[in-house]
Formats: sequence, C-alpha cells, structure tokens
Amino acid sequence: MDNELKQVVEQAQAEAAGVSDIPTLQALRAKYLGKKGPLAAFFARMKDVPADQRRAFGQSVNEARSQVEAIFQSAHEALEAKALAAKLERERVDITLPGHGPVTGTVHPYTKVVNLLTDFFVGQGYVVKDGPEVESDYFNFECLNIPADHPARDMQDSFFLEGGNLLRSHTSPVQARTMQDHTIELPFKIICPGKVYRRDNDATHSHQFGQIEGLCIGEDASLANLERTLTDMFKYLFGDKAEARFRPSFFPFTEPSIECDVSCFECHGKGCGLCKGSGWIEVLGAGMVNPDVFRLNGIDAEKYQGFAFGIGIDRMAMLLYGIDDIHRFYQDDLPFLKQFGKR
Ligand code: PHE
Repeated sequence: MDNELKQVVEQAQAEAAGVSDIPTLQALRAKYLGKKGPLAAFFARMKDVPADQRRAFGQSVNEARSQVEAIFQSAHEALEAKALAAKLERERVDITLPGHGPVTGTVHPYTKVVNLLTDFFVGQGYVVKDGPEVESDYFNFECLNIPADHPARDMQDSFFLEGGNLLRSHTSPVQARTMQDHTIELPFKIICPGKVYRRDNDATHSHQFGQIEGLCIGEDASLANLERTLTDMFKYLFGDKAEARFRPSFFPFTEPSIECDVSCFECHGKGCGLCKGSGWIEVLGAGMVNPDVFRLNGIDAEKYQGFAFGIGIDRMAMLLYGIDDIHRFYQDDLPFLKQFGKR
C-alpha cells in the first residue's frame, strides 16, 4: 500500500483512539469515509493512474478503506461497551439491603384468650356452640328463671330493640337453647364464646364485651367437678401457682351459685393495687343449674344435674396481659395491638 494511504489509516487510528463519545466518533468516521474524505479523494484520482497500475491502485484504496472501517467499527464497539459498563455501575442495585416484607397482623388479645380457653375446654371434651346476639326476652331471661318482674333483670340492663328483642346481656341464653335442642343428646358439655351487651361504661366495663358460657349436664355432674374444672382452667391460663377461691353468690338460673376469684398473680395473695388489697381478683360467676331451669327447658330435673359458668373474656385478657382499660380492646390502637404477637 502506498505511503500516503498508510498515513491516512494511521491517522484515522490515532484520531479514533482519542475520541471518548459516540457522536464525535460518528462525525470523525464521516470525515474519513464520506464523499469529501481522504479516501474518496483517492478514488477520484483513479482516472489519472496509468491503466496497467489502476487495478493494484484500486485494490490498495479498497484495502485502506476496509481498514479504516474496521478501525471505526471497533472504536464504536469499545465506546458502547464502556457506556454500558458506566450505566450498570450507575444503576447498581444493592441486593444486600433488607427488603420490605408483607405486613401481617397480630392476634387480638381478646381472640388470644378465646383461643386459649377454647383449647382448654375442647381438651376436656366440651363442644363449641354458637348463639344469636339479638336475643328474645324468652331466651335471655324467661328460660333462665328470670321472670319479667324479677329484680335480677336490673343487673343486666341491655339494649332493647323494637318488638321486644334485645342484644343479649349474657351468653347464658345458649344454655337454654342447647337444652331445648333435641338433636343434642344428654349428657353433654358445651362452651359458647361470644359478644354480649350491657348498659355499662367505665374502665373495667364496656357496653360490649365477651363471655364464654359453659354448661355441663350429666346424671352426676357435681359442684366438686365445677370447682376442679375452674381451678384447672386458672392454672392453665395463669400458671401452676394460681389458686381459685369460691364464694357463695346469687344467680336465678343456678342454685347454689358461686362467684370465683383467682389469686392475684401480681402479689400472690399479699394484697396490691391490682387486687385492691385483697389478694384476689373476681373473674366469673358459676353454679349448679337450678332445677327450675331444667323444668323450663324440658330436661328431667330428677334424673339430671349440671353446672354452668360464665367467664368474662375481656376481664381474663386484662388480667393475663396486664391491660388497664377495657376500652383498649375496641380502639384499633395499632401500637397497643402489635404487642400481642402472631399466635
Ligand atoms: N350469666 C351470668 C352473668 O353474666 C354468669 C353466669 C353464667 C353465672 C353461668 C352462673 C352460671 O353474670
């Protein structure tokens, strides 16, 4: 190849090597390979070359042109690779950063207590029943030996609806409903967790709260069985050190009736603020089913006896988790609720 051509190739190589961006490189390529470029000028000179050398001359110019094209091609590829590497570096993702996991809820303390107590009673052979929250006067009071003029109605003032129905003031109507359900064979043991309503409102009372009703009917169900069941339940919930205390009380649907206290787990009976100095905390009402209730609900009171209990769910949860105000259960306060974990 003639020296002049070589020079053009070398110059193209040197200039291309100094370019750092693609538009400049494209302009440079056009300068070398375009119509007004040095190589085009060589082609233009073709006609002046003697005929016998024309072929060799043409070959040399073509060869130089191919070389210049190759120079620009590889310079272009090098610049592209460099740009890609820079882009990857710029857009680098730090995969070691912790991700955003899905937000999952926690179990409400009320539900936790229902789950715990349901587990306990199902383990003792109880079946879980359900009942309506809008209840008739008949099931809420009459069948439970609380006639219309009975003063015990005052203890459970609720919300009355048109037509004489009311929001049930306790879960005890489920006792009557189960006794009257002829598909259920005696003897039986049932519990019924559910919402109840009363005209109440202070730090430990809410117009809506939860109860777990329990009813065990058999030929020889006894007060001793009731005491053992409740004592075991307290130990299951509050630990082996928990003690139960039973006091006489009154409910129209149980006879005898008892009220049950658990030993204060804060002070273990010494007396503190939580138990108001007494060492005991009142948690539930219970008793032997009043034979009149059997009669009112079609069960042979000569053959059968039974015990029943009503546990305050919110009250249990407050004691178990040290919650100071029942209204916290119903305020959707996330920082409060998140303390209770997933299970
Ligand atoms: N139903 C009663 C109440 O709500 C509790 C209770 C249930 C008492 C079962 C005795 C037997 O106060």
